[in-house]
Amino acid sequence: MNDVLDAAGPQAAHIADLWWLMLWVCVLVFAVVMAALAWAVWRAPRGDAGTPPDVAPTEAGERRLRWSVGVGVAVSSVLLIGLLAASVLTDHALALMPVDSALNVRVTAHQFWWEIVYEDQQPDRVFTTANELYIPVGRPVVATLQADDVIHSFWIPNLHGKKDLIPGRSATIRFRADRPGEYQGRCAEYCGLQHAFMAFDVVALPAERFAAWAEAQRTPAPDPDGAAAQRGRELFLSGSCMLCHAIQGTTANARKAPDLTHVASRTHLAAGRIANTPQALAAWIADPQRIKPGVNMPAHLLPGDDLAALVAYLETLK
Ligand code: CUA
Repeated sequence: MNDVLDAAGPQAAHIADLWWLMLWVCVLVFAVVMAALAWAVWRAPRGDAGTPPDVAPTEAGERRLRWSVGVGVAVSSVLLIGLLAASVLTDHALALMPVDSALNVRVTAHQFWWEIVYEDQQPDRVFTTANELYIPVGRPVVATLQADDVIHSFWIPNLHGKKDLIPGRSATIRFRADRPGEYQGRCAEYCGLQHAFMAFDVVALPAERFAAWAEAQRTPAPDPDGAAAQRGRELFLSGSCMLCHAIQGTTANARKAPDLTHVASRTHLAAGRIANTPQALAAWIADPQRIKPGVNMPAHLLPGDDLAALVAYLETLK
């Protein structure tokens, strides 16, 4: 689990600085207000039934009170204007990140998963992944955000703040990872069932390793070796799988659900819900509703051999 305040790039660092400033100003104000309250309670006049009423003129006390309230209003105003200025300056700093030779990705949020398209000038170099975002270290990333159904929010705490994905509109977010590592992405806007399990893996790699990863992703799925895997592919292409999923290099080309061309290379399945193991994959295919109630993928009542064959095939999609 990454600490959300552990900034791995310039954008998250600006936001973390602002967050710490706000925290300390608020802690200070809280401490001063509590101290003033304690002092007021401690020095309040105490009396009992026998104490005569205080009928002294209030003029002197009023003047002191007016002065304290004036000082309180002035200090609060200065602090609030200061925080406003810090927030505007942070916004300005976020907009200044250079985006020369940026990596362009298009992120489409669906209930209940993320589709990520890596853009390229050459159409045959464009490729699609799901629920994972690989990025090169030190190079800016410009992500164009869209939503397919309801409003979602794109959030990689270690790299940048949140940005909404709104159906019918597109927004962009720019960020950069300055050190390699694995980070977690989250959906940060309630989007119905399974909102809490709409995660994605973010992996920042040195440039050459990123290039190798991207090249591997562009490769279509190979013909599988072995009878089980071949049978699995036949099941995939003749059954209901291909109505929603795509596997490049085969006739499956639907865009309703994650592209599975390299599904076996992913760390997680079902948008971060389960680790990507053959057992978990089999359980997922057999009954997705048990793992993520409400998802669009239906249960598949396959005979045991067929399920094993299907999993054997999907495991070849590295
Ligand atoms: Cu998607 Cu919350």
